[in-house]
Amino acid sequence: MKKTAIANQKGGVAKTGTVLGLCSACSTKGLGVLVVDLDPQANLTSGLGVSLDNATGAVTANDLLLQYREGTALDAVIETPWPGVDLIPATLDLANRDLDGANDVMFRLRAAFDGCDLSKYAAVLFDCPPSVGRLMIGALIAADQVVYVTDATKDGLLGINNIQRSSSLVKKNLNPALEVAKIVITKRENNNEQNFREDEIRDVYGDLVARTVIPKRAAWNDAHGMSKPIHTMAGNKGALTLSVAFTDLLDELPIVEKSHR
Ligand SMILES: Nc1ncnc2c1ncn2[C@@H]1O[C@H](COP(=O)(O)OP(=O)(O)OP(=O)(O)O)[C@@H](O)[C@H]1O
Ligand SMILES: [Mg+2]
Repeated sequence: MKKTAIANQKGGVAKTGTVLGLCSACSTKGLGVLVVDLDPQANLTSGLGVSLDNATGAVTANDLLLQYREGTALDAVIETPWPGVDLIPATLDLANRDLDGANDVMFRLRAAFDGCDLSKYAAVLFDCPPSVGRLMIGALIAADQVVYVTDATKDGLLGINNIQRSSSLVKKNLNPALEVAKIVITKRENNNEQNFREDEIRDVYGDLVARTVIPKRAAWNDAHGMSKPIHTMAGNKGALTLSVAFTDLLDELPIVEKSHR
């Protein structure tokens, strides 16, 4: 089972939006997916309609990463309101792990997944925070592959260069198996500046850039505001455009295990 990190050090480029859109596409196709919220902002957790009351004692990503323990990941999995979508949720206290000075902290996520039977899932996705801290590096160590997400802006290409450097260092020193699967352009607006920037990214990174582009649509915020899968927003033209784009993206990215296709 391939585990895929969705990453960019740059903030606000729709990393979480890409994970949610792929979850929505998986859910619509009846594919089981496990997503791990590795961002203390917990936008993925709330985006899936999960609200965590500490009193319920739900195990969170922070609990999972408190110590180095092998094979514990599935203990932290909860079901979400989205059919087929399981989650290891985040809470704000996950920020403590980015400050955790223990020398094994970056290896705890990989250890937690060691030996876990993930065969019921078609895909496993990690939503990374927008920083080069222990949480993001830990995700790149635990993952088999990484998908970079970027917007088509002046800073987008620089952002990809930066995350490419971080993942090259992880591959060289900590996780030799890590592959860069694709670069996905998101929140795409149809104007001259973004046309130019998309061309620029494609000129530099060629076939690594996914053909499928996720457009910017107001319907995204409507769906996200209601914590609903974009594919279920019937009768909304923007939502339909986004649903088609995310279904195409799911087909294009090598994230679904062959046995589930
Ligand atoms: N396709 C889209 N169309 C319109 N708005 C979008 C789209 N995708 C994401 N957004 C909006 O853009 C903002 C950033 O998206 P998102 O939170 O997914 O980015 P992120 O990279 O995960 O951010 P962070 O770096 O904070 O984790 C949010 O307000 C989100 O609702
Ligand atoms: Mg995010």
